[in-house]
Amino acid sequence: MEKLIAVLLLVSAAGAHAASFPFILNYVLRIDCGLTGKTTEHYNNLTWFPDSFFIDPGKTKQITSSPNVSQIMTTLRYFPHGEDMNCYRLQLTNTQKYIFRAGFYYGNYDGKSQPPVFDLFLGGQLWETVNSSAAEGPVFQELVYAPRNDNISVCLMGRKEYGSATPFISSLEATYLDDETDSDHSVYRMMRNGTAYHLVARLNFGGHDQVIEPWSGMADVCEERLNRYWTPQPMAGYTDLTFAATSCSGTAYDNRPPNAVINTAISPTNASQSIYVPVNFPTTTPQSAYIVLYFYQNSIIDGPPENLNATRNMDVYIDGVMRRNVKLEGFRSGEVVTLYPVLVQGTMNVTISPANGTVLPPLLNGMEVYYATELAEEASTSNGVFKISCSVIMVGVCHLIVSVFLGLI
Ligand SMILES: *[C@@H]1O[C@H](CO)[C@@H](O)[C@H](O)[C@H]1NC(C)=O
Ligand SMILES: *[C@@H]1O[C@H](CO)[C@@H](O)[C@H](O)[C@H]1NC(C)=O
Ligand SMILES: *[C@@H]1O[C@H](CO)[C@@H](O)[C@H](O)[C@H]1NC(C)=O
Ligand SMILES: *[C@@H]1O[C@H](CO)[C@@H](O)[C@H](O)[C@H]1NC(C)=O
Ligand SMILES: *[C@@H]1O[C@H](CO)[C@@H](O)[C@H](O)[C@H]1NC(C)=O
Ligand SMILES: *[C@@H]1O[C@H](CO)[C@@H](O)[C@H](O)[C@H]1NC(C)=O
Ligand SMILES: *[C@@H]1O[C@H](CO)[C@@H](O)[C@H](O)[C@H]1NC(C)=O
Ligand SMILES: *[C@@H]1O[C@H](CO)[C@@H](O)[C@H](O)[C@H]1NC(C)=O
Ligand SMILES: *[C@@H]1O[C@H](CO)[C@@H](O)[C@H](O)[C@H]1NC(C)=O
Repeated sequence: MEKLIAVLLLVSAAGAHAASFPFILNYVLRIDCGLTGKTTEHYNNLTWFPDSFFIDPGKTKQITSSPNVSQIMTTLRYFPHGEDMNCYRLQLTNTQKYIFRAGFYYGNYDGKSQPPVFDLFLGGQLWETVNSSAAEGPVFQELVYAPRNDNISVCLMGRKEYGSATPFISSLEATYLDDETDSDHSVYRMMRNGTAYHLVARLNFGGHDQVIEPWSGMADVCEERLNRYWTPQPMAGYTDLTFAATSCSGTAYDNRPPNAVINTAISPTNASQSIYVPVNFPTTTPQSAYIVLYFYQNSIIDGPPENLNATRNMDVYIDGVMRRNVKLEGFRSGEVVTLYPVLVQGTMNVTISPANGTVLPPLLNGMEVYYATELAEEASTSNGVFKISCSVIMVGVCHLIVSVFLGLI
């Protein structure tokens, strides 16, 4: 594995052709922007590439004040020519769905105490306007999109109304959402080609303060394998439930929720009450929302005891409109509900109410919310240069192919 990385880096340094080699290992490309040197870094066992392989313009900077953020966020690349399109080129292994995530941590790197506002582009189209002071810590932009072109650009440009202020970027990731390795259940199956799905919230209920992070090990498929972060959502007035761990329950459901997410839930204290979750969208204009709700129950190890032989019957409402009925019965029983498209505006109210005949109160384990935009990607300049797809299982074989091609063995 380490060897493969070394080979790929060597190849990439060798010239223009080289840029067509995928840097995707284990389905994930992680770029630590502003990292100097030509070698990969490891953080929490995850491999990060320096960004010099993917971009020419810009300058690198290390944040000197010791900020309480991950090591990845302490280096950045900034673009003094903010009036230009400053572009990364990502070589993907295919044109299926990917999660694209960009991270920005200003950290007063320039000593001016002026966090900039600038535009971020994907495939030549506006992805988002980044306000680097929108959060105390790092700001992340994330979307799911199936690119039309496997050679896709991620660009930054200042906004004229803010004097084309110097854009910067701290991290960039592309995660392939493999849909084929297990066909029993799909990953975000209602998402359409040509549409970008911008992440609004990815929440873990009942999990106290725990952020569920991408798993860095090789084998354990019960963990988060799709490079997602699940944010804890404390909910005052509800009971937290923790279920007994079983082997890899999450992989049995759509979108492969990690066990750590589905093994905890919130529930009202009284079976006749509902769960209310308001979700704020970044703008008040009408949006088409993609909503995923995760329901799962097992024997309770923390929380009031329940007889799971009894019926748990729930109705899902969005803004007061009944959308779906969910019934759970017995141990290790779950359902993933996807609602799309749902027209929303400003704040969306998700309500999980007790349905006719229920004995047990409603529950909710996890939720994802996206809003959809059409993304008219720039025309393809696809190369036809040979490509290799590496998968978890295939890494050894892939290494062999690369090495043989290069005449290294
Ligand atoms: C890194 O991997 C090693 C060996 O698999 C493991 O013992 C360790 O807990 C991992 N560290 C993190 C932060 O995941
Ligand atoms: C750094 O962050 C951790 C976790 O978010 C927190 O527990 C700790 O208090 C923070 N330290 C400082 C100095 O802010
Ligand atoms: C950026 O975010 C900060 C903090 O939330 C806010 O005060 C400022 O108005 C925002 N700037 C723009 C241009 O939206
Ligand atoms: C989206 O495009 C990919 C590759 O271009 C193709 O394999 C897939 O079938 C398409 N999906 C849909 C829903 O059209
Ligand atoms: C549950 O709520 C209903 C209606 O609000 C109320 O009549 C009932 O007493 C409550 N039960 C308990 C155990 O609190
Ligand atoms: C639930 O049903 C199973 C199978 O019918 C039975 O073995 C078990 O005793 C029941 N549990 C309760 C608490 O009724
Ligand atoms: C959501 O709920 C709040 C509080 O109950 C209410 O004021 C608001 O009108 C609701 N929004 C929609 C779109 O139903
Ligand atoms: C509720 O369930 C009862 C018994 O199963 C049935 O008779 C009744 O019609 C149901 N009501 C609704 C509104 O579905
Ligand atoms: C990717 O696209 C850019 C811009 O269209 C082009 O300059 C570059 O040669 C392409 N790279 C490959 C490997 O096709």
